[in-house]
Amino acid sequence: MDFFRLKPFLLFDFKDEPDLIKAIEEVSLKFTQQRERISDYLNDPRLASAYTAFYLTTNMPKLEAVFKWMPKDWLEMIKHSTFIDVGAGPGTFSLAFREWAGVPVKAMQIETSSVMRDQARKIWEGLYPDEKLLQKAEGEKVLFFGHSANEMGPDAVLRYIKEHDPDHLLFIEPGTKDFFPQMLKIRAALIKYDFNILFPCPSAAECPLKGSSTDWCHQFIQVRQENDVERLSQMVRKDRRNLPLTVHAFSKTFSTVNPSVRVIRVLPETKFSYDWEGCELNHLERYQIMKRGLNKNQTTLLSETLAGAALEVELEKVLETSKRVKIKSLGNKPF
Ligand SMILES: C[S@@+](CC[C@H](N)C(=O)[O-])C[C@H]1O[C@@H](n2cnc3c(N)ncnc32)[C@H](O)[C@@H]1O
Repeated sequence: MDFFRLKPFLLFDFKDEPDLIKAIEEVSLKFTQQRERISDYLNDPRLASAYTAFYLTTNMPKLEAVFKWMPKDWLEMIKHSTFIDVGAGPGTFSLAFREWAGVPVKAMQIETSSVMRDQARKIWEGLYPDEKLLQKAEGEKVLFFGHSANEMGPDAVLRYIKEHDPDHLLFIEPGTKDFFPQMLKIRAALIKYDFNILFPCPSAAECPLKGSSTDWCHQFIQVRQENDVERLSQMVRKDRRNLPLTVHAFSKTFSTVNPSVRVIRVLPETKFSYDWEGCELNHLERYQIMKRGLNKNQTTLLSETLAGAALEVELEKVLETSKRVKIKSLGNKPF
């Protein structure tokens, strides 16, 4: 979403670019250093508009990047479901869902802040004047949490799940250590409620990183931002192209054959090898993939691999602290 397209629908009319930049910096400070004052941006049209200008635009591309990890048949299914955007804020991900689908969708927004609700309404009605947001879900339901589960906490998330009884669930949350134990609590409850895991875990067994004080499971994406959005990012000195995130997807009505390995960490590349950590049927392994014998396309693919990729390997040799492997498939494509 380019900023130019969104600007007419902001609640607050910024006097000029420096005025907008100052407000974005205020919001960003509340997220990073003043967590106790985090709710300020939800009650003030100026800060809510700054959030929208910067975080809505830079978060929207996450949905499409995350969908690349998801099973295609599942995406086809959820395209026709009601997308319930919980903690929608200005409607970031309902808009991303609508833009991804390219046609009218069934979308519904849940949001506690009245300022954000006003902001979301103004944008949706401005961009899609002939398409109404739903007040009540129709057909299958996807309950979606985008940077909101971490603000409301697992108990509130589980209450929303009980209330809406969704067929599918998707979380796109910050890739932070603090959020990880909260996500594990939600995951455990969903397994108990008989949801199938679609992403990221290879199985429903206990997470091998549960209880770790130093390590947590999260993913990375690289996205291309629109030119005017990239300019805003540079002005507030924030990298919004390389983004860590915590993604989880579950379904009651759809199941898939999960990969046997999910890449959870890409270690620095050496002259001879790629070294990755992976979750293999829910225990941790370290893999060494030798460069020798690989062609240019293969080395490019491996150099671009980020945490979150699906992986199938063939064991070559057990080393002292890792397994030397050959790749059979990467990102669900034969290698
Ligand atoms: C960081 S914003 C994320 C907004 C949007 N989903 C996005 O990704 O840009 C978190 C939002 O969650 C909302 N929120 C927090 N607790 C909530 C709750 N219990 N129910 C509904 N919304 C909630 C906040 O008001 C805020 O708008």
